[in-house]
Amino acid sequence: MVNGKEISMERNIKGSEIQAKERLVFALDVPTAKAAEAMLDCVQETVGVIKIGLELFTSEGPAVVRMVQRYGKPVFLDLKVLDIAETVQRTVARVADMGVSFLTVHADRKALAAAVQGRAGNPALYILAVTVLTNVAQADLRECGFDGTVEHAVVARARLAAEAGCDGVIASGREPAAIRSAIDAPLLIVTPGVRPAGQGEDEHARATTPRQAIHAGADYLVVGRPIRDAPDPRAAAQAIVSEMQAAFDQQSLSP
Ligand code: C5P
Repeated sequence: MVNGKEISMERNIKGSEIQAKERLVFALDVPTAKAAEAMLDCVQETVGVIKIGLELFTSEGPAVVRMVQRYGKPVFLDLKVLDIAETVQRTVARVADMGVSFLTVHADRKALAAAVQGRAGNPALYILAVTVLTNVAQADLRECGFDGTVEHAVVARARLAAEAGCDGVIASGREPAAIRSAIDAPLLIVTPGVRPAGQGEDEHARATTPRQAIHAGADYLVVGRPIRDAPDPRAAAQAIVSEMQAAFDQQSLSP
């Protein structure tokens, strides 16, 4: 327990002190509670945090959060909340009541501030700000009238997250160095769009390997299809954990 939180976010916990398995967030992107249980029975020993996303939450609701909690794993509820402040605050309060450990909120200043207010009294719920989705490329930003680089947008939104009092950000494995050098606050960096070397990148425009993301400074990796769709999901998860652990261990060798 650190700062009243169950999950350590101390930046000074580094390298070989980190148990890589605890830093692997498995995206449980399946349509039903039955499929979710079957997948959890398979991978529970090899992953640390379970992410419930829009698909599973839409089909099964809060009951699936309780089901995952029975496996003794922290739940990451990936609802990517964005609405007016009143709605965000009240929604986050309901999520906090569910004993969830991580919640995603889009990096809009008012929404982030409302989310932090909504979890007041529940410090065990980490608010993670979604900066720029990993499927977004430079051309997509330009199309929306934004002339800056993706990295510029990620850092600007991470700054909003820090100023609002969020615990961390969602960013690709290409951006941790820029975030850390621009922002002093000890933000957790949670990285999706992770693909083991040699695997396809699917729709991720800013994919990185587990090793690249950890070396770049990511604290947690989010991985879905490379585990879910593998012929042996447990072995796929274990291979990712081993690659992460080797990268964390190397951090402790560097000065
Ligand atoms: O299957 P894959 O590893 O691509 O899954 C990524 C997961 O992370 C999905 O559940 C997706 O909703 C989520 N994600 C995210 N932010 C991104 C990219 C993906 O939360 N920038």
